[in-house]
Amino acid sequence: MAGPDSRVTIHMVASLDGFIARRDGRVDWLETSDEFAGGETLDQRSIAAFLKTIDCYVMGSRTYETALRFESQGFGWSYGDKPTFVLTTRNLPRNRDTVEFHAGDLAQFVNGRLRPAYRSIWFVGGGAVSAECLRLGLADEVRYSILPVLIGNGIPFFQKLDRDIALHLAEVKAYKSGMVALRYDVRRKP
Ligand SMILES: NC(=O)c1ccc[n+]([C@@H]2O[C@H](COP(=O)([O-])OP(=O)(O)OC[C@H]3O[C@@H](n4cnc5c(N)ncnc54)[C@H](OP(=O)(O)O)[C@@H]3O)[C@@H](O)[C@H]2O)c1
Repeated sequence: MAGPDSRVTIHMVASLDGFIARRDGRVDWLETSDEFAGGETLDQRSIAAFLKTIDCYVMGSRTYETALRFESQGFGWSYGDKPTFVLTTRNLPRNRDTVEFHAGDLAQFVNGRLRPAYRSIWFVGGGAVSAECLRLGLADEVRYSILPVLIGNGIPFFQKLDRDIALHLAEVKAYKSGMVALRYDVRRKP
């Protein structure tokens, strides 16, 4: 898994108006009922094969708390048996052995600890952690899956970015569900 070819990806699902959750954290709007005739179908086997290519996950504490809530409501744990690093300064409950908490310098953590050990490193939210990852110049790729819904208000995909981040559009896929998946490379300054 280890190697200099490691890649840091930020991935989230958002409404067309750029929100990843309602202000109170609810994500009920993720269930949409659109149908786009020309779209691709996502089947369970290809999703499972794709998830195997991810080596570890990183998330903010509020995203972790949402994941814990989902699990307690019977919706399962989305991160399988992959190492899952939760950024927090608090003492949170640890729901499984694959979960590890981290506080402190994020750049040092990603470049010194994660990149040498994992090839495909996925930041899976939320908006605060995604922006921090970009501000620190740690991300190689942004995957933005847009759902066919406007929710008007909420937690934005990237919170408090302090500069422009130039991107290169690498891939666009449209799905039968009406979701559009955009993949961008983060352009490095020459
Ligand atoms: N639509 C989607 O795809 C998607 C994906 C993910 C999340 N979400 C939603 O987004 C919401 C959460 O997003 P958010 O932006 O509010 O919060 P977040 O990014 O999940 O978590 C932010 C928290 O992480 C901790 N943290 C951040 N950087 C840290 C660092 N370098 N070291 C230590 N701790 C650090 C801090 O918490 P402490 O106080 O614990 O230190 C900070 O308050 C939830 O409602 C979730 O459901 C949606």
